Amino acid sequence: MIWNRKKPYLAEIISSKLLSGKYSNKEIMHYEISLGDSGIYYEPGDSLAVIPTNDHNLVLAIIDRLDVNPSIIPDGQNSSLFELLISHYEILTPTNRLIYFINENIKHNDLNKVVKSDDKNLLNQFKYGKDVLDFINLDKNLMIDLNIFLTLLKQLQHRAYSITSSYNAYPKKVHLTVSTQRWKNNLRDYHGVCSTFLADKCIKGTKIKVFLIPNRTFKLPKNQKKDLIMIGPGTGLAPFISFLQERKFLRSSGKNWLFFGAQTRINDFIYENEILNFKKNNVLQKLDLAFSRDQSKKIYVQDRMYESRAEIFQWIEDGAILYVCGDALKMAKDVDSILRKIIEEQLNCNETKSLAYIKNLKKEKRYLLDVY
Ligand SMILES: Cc1cc2nc3c(=O)[nH]c(=O)nc-3n(C[C@H](O)[C@H](O)[C@H](O)COP(=O)(O)OP(=O)(O)OC[C@H]3O[C@@H](n4cnc5c(N)ncnc54)[C@H](O)[C@@H]3O)c2cc1C
Ligand SMILES: NC(=O)c1ccc[n+]([C@@H]2O[C@H](COP(=O)([O-])OP(=O)(O)OC[C@H]3O[C@@H](n4cnc5c(N)ncnc54)[C@H](OP(=O)(O)O)[C@@H]3O)[C@@H](O)[C@H]2O)c1
Repeated sequence: MIWNRKKPYLAEIISSKLLSGKYSNKEIMHYEISLGDSGIYYEPGDSLAVIPTNDHNLVLAIIDRLDVNPSIIPDGQNSSLFELLISHYEILTPTNRLIYFINENIKHNDLNKVVKSDDKNLLNQFKYGKDVLDFINLDKNLMIDLNIFLTLLKQLQHRAYSITSSYNAYPKKVHLTVSTQRWKNNLRDYHGVCSTFLADKCIKGTKIKVFLIPNRTFKLPKNQKKDLIMIGPGTGLAPFISFLQERKFLRSSGKNWLFFGAQTRINDFIYENEILNFKKNNVLQKLDLAFSRDQSKKIYVQDRMYESRAEIFQWIEDGAILYVCGDALKMAKDVDSILRKIIEEQLNCNETKSLAYIKNLKKEKRYLLDVY
């Protein structure tokens, strides 16, 4: 059976638990989900797509602001407005369509200026942290026709989560590591749609809509003798737990080196016992940890890489595969810069040569990224 967005599998939540500590700035959750009789088989590196539903309170607040009846069936639809806003439309992150519509229909100096400037960065800055309701409320007198409003929303999207388990170690189950996105702005509480759907609504026994997103490139090598260097701060750790479980199961002879980073050791060292056991049992030959806020000067994974520059370079020269997972905006770029610096120093070469070296690593599929 093939499950996809249009035909998702209804998977049961087996358990959920908070991984981050009491005083963490993060809320990182571990979910165990049953794949039951779905026939879904995954490989390390694959992601699971989760189709969430929206927050009831936000739906009611939008309906209230539009001043319409929740049970009304909008033109051309088969469900009530309430149902549509719960499970059909993306109602947290505004579309540019909605923003431009509002801009044309209200007088709001800041918004009008930003849209007129046609500067994407300025618009992103203005948008940051604001949701659909905030935009409608930029002018309390603005009234939007319900049918027009719906055309300004996009379809509710699924969210991808890197699978944290190996199928061989946990047959018919999938583990996820999810950072719950919650933030406050001007006294309002905001909740990322899917991460809070999982955290707040998915207790043991809940069935959720999922499908598999295979990853054709971010994969373990077929050759069990290959060495791996895995760089995954924060939730970027998720696929590497799967990699290590699989390497243990297959008794792969290649060496494994993990770089993990988080804010504090006491609160944010997720999967600490499992990782230390991998190290103790020699599944993991090298472990480098970067707890950024455990000392006055921040230490990141790329600083640990630089400290071990000669050895990292030797591993790469000996054929190791380099994997990077997690934040695309900053971390992955900084890791790339340090890698270039290491190559330049070790080969005593210029930037053109180090770039060519990295290009070749990518060509040989030995520098793989899964960043978001
Ligand atoms: C291939 C892939 C793998 C992934 N794997 C993982 C994983 O293993 N674990 C994981 O946790 N995530 C992972 N993600 C990210 C995940 O898919 C979601 O994007 C994430 O959970 C947020 O979704 P959400 O629905 O909770 O938030 P959304 O409703 O999508 O809202 C997110 C938006 O909220 C805004 N926002 C968030 N925080 C703040 C803040 N503090 N202040 C202001 N605005 C804010 C930002 O605009 C952000 O873009 C992965 C993504 C991809 C593409
Ligand atoms: N697409 C999404 O919706 C989505 C989902 C999840 C996460 N994210 C984003 O991804 C980023 C990482 O989130 P996360 O929760 O996985 O990790 P995280 O817990 O925020 O960060 C993990 C570690 O990486 C450090 N770090 C910060 N900047 C870094 C850099 N440039 N290079 C290397 N390490 C760096 C952090 O240090 P300090 O914090 O002390 O600086 C921390 O020690 C966040 O910005 C988050 O907003 C986005």
